[in-house]
Amino acid sequence: MALFKKKHLDNETMKNGAKLITLANPQSVISEQFRNIRTNINFMNVDKEVKTIAFTSAMASAGKSTVSANVAITMAQAGKKTILIDADLRRPTLHSTFNVSNGNGLTTLLTSRTKEMDASSVIRESGVENLSILTAGPIPPNPSELLGSKHMLDLVEGLKEKYDMVILDLAPILDAAETQQLTSSLDGTILVVRQGKSQKAAVKRAVELLKLTNSPILGYVMNDVEGDGDGGYGYGYGYGYGYGYGEEEEKKGLFGRKK
Ligand SMILES: Nc1ncnc2c1ncn2[C@@H]1O[C@H](COP(=O)(O)OP(=O)(O)O)[C@@H](O)[C@H]1O
Ligand SMILES: [Mg+2]
Repeated sequence: MALFKKKHLDNETMKNGAKLITLANPQSVISEQFRNIRTNINFMNVDKEVKTIAFTSAMASAGKSTVSANVAITMAQAGKKTILIDADLRRPTLHSTFNVSNGNGLTTLLTSRTKEMDASSVIRESGVENLSILTAGPIPPNPSELLGSKHMLDLVEGLKEKYDMVILDLAPILDAAETQQLTSSLDGTILVVRQGKSQKAAVKRAVELLKLTNSPILGYVMNDVEGDGDGGYGYGYGYGYGYGYGEEEEKKGLFGRKK
C-alpha cells in the first residue's frame, strides 16, 4: 500500500522552458487569446493603476509559467516596457524559457548583504523588444523567507519606477506561504486554472486565501480550454473582480467557454 500519494508534476517547462506561442506564431488563435487577456488586464487599469501583477494557481502545473511568459510578451509587443520575474523559487522555469543562465537572479538580489545591490546587474534582456527578465537564481533552502521579506517588496517597488509593467510568476498559493504574503502587496493577482485538471475545491480555497490576505484578484485565466486552439492550448479569460470562483460565474459561462 502506498503511504504517500504520488503527486503528478510536469517538469517539461523546468527543463525546456515554456512554449512562447506569441513569439513563434503571433497570428495564431492562441496568440489572439493572449492579446485578449492583455486587453482585459489593461482595462483594469482604468479604475486603478495596475503595474504589478502576479500569476498564481491553486496547485502546480496549471500553466502559470506558460501564461505569464506569453502575457508578458504581448505586453512588450504592445510597447509597454515590461519585466517578467521568476518568483516560483520551487519550480523555476524562466531561464529555460529564454535560454539564459540562472547563476544569478532574484535570489542573488534578495540575499545580497548590500541592500543597494543594483538590480540591473542581474536583470537581462530577453531578446524580445521591451521585455526584460529576472530569473529565479540559485534555489535557497528558505524560499518563503526570501520572497516574503521587505527586501522583496522594496525590489518590486523599485522596478515599478523603471518599467510600465512588472509581472511575477509565483509558486502555487496553496503550497507556498510566500505567495500569500506577496500577493497582498501587488496591484493584482490572476489565477490560472487548468481546465479539467485544477480541482474546484482547490481553486475555491485559493480564492479564499487571496481574499483573506486582501489580495486584489484581477481575474482568472482558464487554461487548456477544450476545443480551442491547437493541440489543447486554448485560453479564456474570466472576470473575477474579486468574486470567488463559484457556481454563479460558472453558470454564466465566464470560465473558459468562449463566446
Ligand atoms: N493549454 C495547455 N495545453 C497543453 N499543455 C499545456 C497547456 N498549458 C501548459 N501546458 C503544459 O503543462 C505543463 C505545465 O505548464 P507550466 O506553464 O509549467 O505550469 P506551472 O508554471 O503552473 O507549473 C507544461 O508542460 C506546459 O507545456
Ligand atoms: Mg511554473
